[in-house]
Amino acid sequence: MENAIEIRDLTKSFHNVLTKEDVVAVDHLTLDVPEGQIFGFLGPNGAGKTTTIKMLLGLIFPDSGAAHILGQPAGDIDVKRKISYLPETPYFYEHMTGFEVLDFYGTLFGIPAQKRKARVSELLEQVGLASNMHKRLRFYSKGMLQRIGLAQALVNDPRVLFLDEPTSGLDPIAHLEIRDLILRLREEGRTVFLSSHQLSDVEMVCDRVSIMNRGKVLKVGALKDLLAGQTTEVRAEKVSDAALAKVKEIAPDAFLVEDALSARVEPDQVNRLVDVVVQNGGHIVAVTPSQRTLEDIFIETIQQAGMPVADLSLEGSLSQ
Ligand SMILES: Nc1ncnc2c1ncn2[C@@H]1O[C@H](COP(=O)(O)OP(=O)(O)OP(=O)(O)O)[C@@H](O)[C@H]1O
Ligand SMILES: [Mg+2]
Repeated sequence: MENAIEIRDLTKSFHNVLTKEDVVAVDHLTLDVPEGQIFGFLGPNGAGKTTTIKMLLGLIFPDSGAAHILGQPAGDIDVKRKISYLPETPYFYEHMTGFEVLDFYGTLFGIPAQKRKARVSELLEQVGLASNMHKRLRFYSKGMLQRIGLAQALVNDPRVLFLDEPTSGLDPIAHLEIRDLILRLREEGRTVFLSSHQLSDVEMVCDRVSIMNRGKVLKVGALKDLLAGQTTEVRAEKVSDAALAKVKEIAPDAFLVEDALSARVEPDQVNRLVDVVVQNGGHIVAVTPSQRTLEDIFIETIQQAGMPVADLSLEGSLSQ
């Protein structure tokens, strides 16, 4: 499989004018994004996600390292025609209607007038805004703006889309619809580079994810591999403190609430644990397999790395 995006040793610092120190926003980042997949680009606030995306788009320049998109250097004019970007906080021309705004972007991309109308109507239909296309954006709801943003990102029929927080602040229905739209982009063979804090969305749509903090990638892999490692929860009653001590030899995190036990083990340890509980007078109440979530993995990865998340307290006093 070809890579849509290849990032090698990409580094970017910003200078803090107050402390006169450099903040390393992206730190020797190396990452591959296979073509035709949805890639989840995750990390806590200030991890360096938006800075990376801006370098991939050629909006800002790295201090060192390189990135290629569809085999060509990021920022090349030819690449820019084949990609698109939905920013974290898109700017909209509020006095325009949905139709006008897409038509305007179609003009910028050089779509001839006779084709433009059909293309714009098709996009409005696709994002569910056909009935609101003649309303000015000033009167659009947040969900409608997010949809027009996505439609705008599709005007040039991009092969690679960069979506920065496309589902933040949406109601559950709008949320679901945007998620479906993102899935459809993959069906159409596009590559989606998705940065999001909505981990349940990421879990539902992404093929691969990376987790970064302080400019470095801490973990990357196929989502199903990251989520592997199912544990089993065992609950029991009438468990004594003495029995708990024995249980803890198998399940170190086990605990009692009065005489009720809760313990979590690997599936191959369940029998051993149940035996210990029963032999010590306990009654098994439930044995339940529990799947780890992406949120568990995210928190675990950040905590295990032992590095603090970015200090955001100086935000605003920083300059490039
Ligand atoms: N223009 C800038 N000038 C100075 N510092 C910046 C600038 N842009 C980003 N930074 C700093 O770079 C670091 C990474 O910021 P970035 O916006 O890339 O994070 P992020 O992962 O997108 O976070 P979030 O999840 O909050 O959007 C932060 O410490 C931020 O303060
Ligand atoms: Mg960001």
